[in-house]
Amino acid sequence: MKDLDPTSLQHLAPLHGVLMGKEIVENWKEVEQFQARPDDVYISTYPKAGTTWMSEIVDMIFCEGDQEKCRREAIYNRVPYLELRIPGSPSGVEQLQVAPSPRLVKTHLPIHLMPESIWDKNCKVIYVARNAKDVAVSYFFFHNMVKALPDPGPLDHFLNNYNKGNVSYGSWYDHVNGWWEKRQEYRILYLFYEDLKENPKREILKVLHFLEKEMSDSLVDKIVQHTSFQEMKNNEMVNYKTIPNEFLDQSETSFMRKGIAGDWKNHFTVAQNEIFDEEYNRQMAGKNLHFRTEI
Ligand code: A3P
Repeated sequence: MKDLDPTSLQHLAPLHGVLMGKEIVENWKEVEQFQARPDDVYISTYPKAGTTWMSEIVDMIFCEGDQEKCRREAIYNRVPYLELRIPGSPSGVEQLQVAPSPRLVKTHLPIHLMPESIWDKNCKVIYVARNAKDVAVSYFFFHNMVKALPDPGPLDHFLNNYNKGNVSYGSWYDHVNGWWEKRQEYRILYLFYEDLKENPKREILKVLHFLEKEMSDSLVDKIVQHTSFQEMKNNEMVNYKTIPNEFLDQSETSFMRKGIAGDWKNHFTVAQNEIFDEEYNRQMAGKNLHFRTEI
């Protein structure tokens, strides 16, 4: 990764109707043929929905609440990113092939692109969904930080692309709905960022139950505390400060940026909000999936 120009990775290409980084698309066979293990646990999200937060929660559960164990490595090594492809570095699949079981795996893939082996092995997946407006704002700032993502342009322009699915990982609408529709067919725990924010303990208990793990009340409280926004913002093993600035420029905005529900209100103009609502209502018409845009 040392000599790589990150802007060379900005190109997106369609894969089965979904825009993704060209490197991922060109090497798709490796992901498609990925071999799951029955005790893998997948953390799936549309980007910016709380992937890192849930990853730290699940790793804390697997480490039985031992914070020091969770500091053994940066989050992107503890929870490898399945479809990641950076020339000159091991791919997500290569990292996972040598990882000991039980593996924790991060992915942003829409459900129809998940490798078949994950379902054949009946693996558990924790899906975190976050409201469309906060994801849009978070994704916009993220595009300005990540040099391997296309320039988002002004917010107006980005929102237009986002609502059309012309961004990396495609349409937020297709992603959240696709996973929602299949949640009873496979072992999927579908959670909401806003619920986690409102009552982290209640949601962490749901994760424990889903993973068939038991834990004392005081350890659960410790996980709540360790994975609070403030703690994670100051924790080098999860705040991505270990990534060099040329790749992830945190000089103006941090990866751990705001961590709230409803920040879109600080960024959308009245007109942007009206256009967004119209588009949202059109694309979510008839769906029984509901989000809170503030708590
Ligand atoms: P904001 O940009 O709105 O602050 P992901 O990990 O999927 O890339 O998501 C990143 C978003 O989750 C960022 O949102 C980040 O601040 C937020 N986040 C990360 N850890 C969090 C935590 N412990 N509590 C609340 N939000 C958190």
